[in-house]
Amino acid sequence: MADHRPQPRIYVALDVAEERRVRDLLAELDPSLCGIKIGKEAFTALGPRVVEWAREGGFPVFLDLKFHDIPNTVARACRAAADLDVALVNVHASGGRRMLEAAREAIEPGRDAPGLIAVTVLTSMEDADLAEIGVNDGAQAQVARLARLTAETGLDGVVCSAREAQAMRAVFPDASGLVVTPGVRPAGGARDDQRRVVTPAEALSLGATSLVIGRPVTAADEPRKALEAIVAEL
Ligand code: C5P
Repeated sequence: MADHRPQPRIYVALDVAEERRVRDLLAELDPSLCGIKIGKEAFTALGPRVVEWAREGGFPVFLDLKFHDIPNTVARACRAAADLDVALVNVHASGGRRMLEAAREAIEPGRDAPGLIAVTVLTSMEDADLAEIGVNDGAQAQVARLARLTAETGLDGVVCSAREAQAMRAVFPDASGLVVTPGVRPAGGARDDQRRVVTPAEALSLGATSLVIGRPVTAADEPRKALEAIVAEL
């Protein structure tokens, strides 16, 4: 049995900061087809009530705040997130072992617990960026190292690009392991500023367990239809 809440196949990224836009999108989308990812922009602009609106609409919520701080602070933030009744929370694995252990202690595994996952290396970071901050053996090695640390400290999985999904699945082989991937674009759709995109079906076949999809749904003329088309493609 999974030791976290069940996860939707798709989280729609709600990357907007105006209450009206949030409410319109929530009214338009179908909670039987997706969860909602709430990130730093919407959360900072609108506060925890944005989570409440999504929960009232029946949506599982991925609170994507990527906590990274001293262990005690991250633990308390994780507990506060769990109190908001979210389905998924994340932290930066580069916060280190004691921070990850503190996060795990704050969110005890269980069928009602949010999934607790980690970001390994931001996909915006290239080898040269890492070298500048003292990581000299490249992104791939750093991703592998931080994924192992994430697994060792008992977290439920990672958020990563679809290109890394296969390798990440090997680090989290249980049925309950979570591999959450953004950068997904429906076949033939606009790529926006995403460079290395895969289709939703490809991402799942590479081992992703949930997909994060933003603009292909939120910027569509008819978000519900766009979402339904993606679900049909799966
Ligand atoms: O609109 P789009 O589908 O590109 O949105 C993807 C979402 O996933 C955004 O919220 C973005 O910040 C997030 N994300 C990403 N790539 C990463 C990590 C997160 O696109 N490597």
